[in-house]
Amino acid sequence: MRARHDYAEPFKIKTVEPIHLPSRQTRAARIEEAGFNVFNLQSEDVYIDLLTDSGTTAMSTQQWAAMIKGDESYAGSRSYKALSAAVADVMGFPYVLPTHQGRGAEHILMTMKVQPDDRIPGNMHFDTTEGHIRLRGAHPINLLAEEGYQRASTHPFKGNIDLDQLAAELSKNRERIPLVLMTITCNNNGGQPVSLANLRAAAEIAHAAEVPIFLDAARFAENAYFIQTREPGYENHDLRTIARECFSLVDGCTFSAKKDGLVNIGGLLAFWDIKAFEEAIQWQIPFEGFITYGGLAGRDLEAIAVGLREVINPAYLENRIGQVHRLASRLYEAGVPVIMPPGGHGVFIDAGEFFPHLPPEQFPGQAFVVELYLEGAIRAVELGSAAFGRRDPTTGEHIAPRMEMVRLAIPRRVYTDRHLEQVAQAVERVYQRRSDIQGFDMIKEAPVLRHFTAQYRRREDD
Ligand code: F0G
Repeated sequence: MRARHDYAEPFKIKTVEPIHLPSRQTRAARIEEAGFNVFNLQSEDVYIDLLTDSGTTAMSTQQWAAMIKGDESYAGSRSYKALSAAVADVMGFPYVLPTHQGRGAEHILMTMKVQPDDRIPGNMHFDTTEGHIRLRGAHPINLLAEEGYQRASTHPFKGNIDLDQLAAELSKNRERIPLVLMTITCNNNGGQPVSLANLRAAAEIAHAAEVPIFLDAARFAENAYFIQTREPGYENHDLRTIARECFSLVDGCTFSAKKDGLVNIGGLLAFWDIKAFEEAIQWQIPFEGFITYGGLAGRDLEAIAVGLREVINPAYLENRIGQVHRLASRLYEAGVPVIMPPGGHGVFIDAGEFFPHLPPEQFPGQAFVVELYLEGAIRAVELGSAAFGRRDPTTGEHIAPRMEMVRLAIPRRVYTDRHLEQVAQAVERVYQRRSDIQGFDMIKEAPVLRHFTAQYRRREDD
């Protein structure tokens, strides 16, 4: 692995947005009013917002300049051509449907392909993808290779799928599997990459069973960077070539442009095959809008077109991944249980290890997120029992997910290392007093994607 993360930002700052640190007293009041759910906080009450790297990107001068060229025609927009050209250039696909964001593309793909009781294998589906699969009455099947679940494993590609399990799933349930979906990078276990070798083998297995394979390519450029720096034989391939090779192995992709499209809103669905494209249009028009705008303004299409070319730039990715790496290493050295090596878009902390005295049904990740807000007005996100746990429908008992994570997602081109130093210090202070921190009860929850709207009560000393 090359240690290359020493470059300063390959940009200078032209527009700034003021932020401020609310007082400790204000923080305590706001988090209580929010039902101890950081999704209910107002952004003005947050100092450093690491809730997500999605749609939080700072756009470049080139992107803002391109937006003024947006062609807002309902049909045949010039901006659609600009987007298609950028997709063909960076990803390779000749057929593109814009969507309002990634989940819009998932909605079309799952409606097109999935029937009740089908099974959709993948390395590890993101929660909106799982939601769309379940809304079709089908089953998401996560077949992440075992090392991906081991926080302490130093495997360079912890987003890989277990190929034996994929082959077994396909031979057992072939008739119920309309597609395989690989998520690059794998968000839920830390933004961990998938190797080209693993992707190639997964595609071979799927295609041998005559099942199409798709990428959820939200962070494809970060994945390409990891392939270049970690996978033997790719050191001298440029990032675009690597990305193109990934896309060449699969039948199409869903893409949330809010991540590696470097924009605040947008997504797309892309195919190699015109028949699949034509079929998808039948769902595109009622769900998202006409082919050439798909739920976006022409100016948004222009911004994505430029963003796709910017994101694959080596200096950008070097700095981006370097920043994440520096924060992770800083916390790791302080003894905080972070996933190492870190992934591409954030630092993931194992809240179960952080708070060994809090069982999953007391939501240790939630306890961490609340304390970090109280400590420094820093907003992180729970990706553990609240987000991925469930209640047994008959007994009401808590079913814990395999991992109890908290994510400090780093927006692209937004915060400086000084901001992240503040974050590191706040996390350390919480770590020092971790044994005094209580868990939570969930007192209000929705049946699907409950973590967005749940309310909590802090547990008192028993
Ligand atoms: N796939 C992955 C891997 C994602 O991380 C996301 C979104 C989506 C699909 C859906 O895309 O938001 O544009 O509809 N992830 C965000 C996050 C929300 O915070 O990680 P979307």
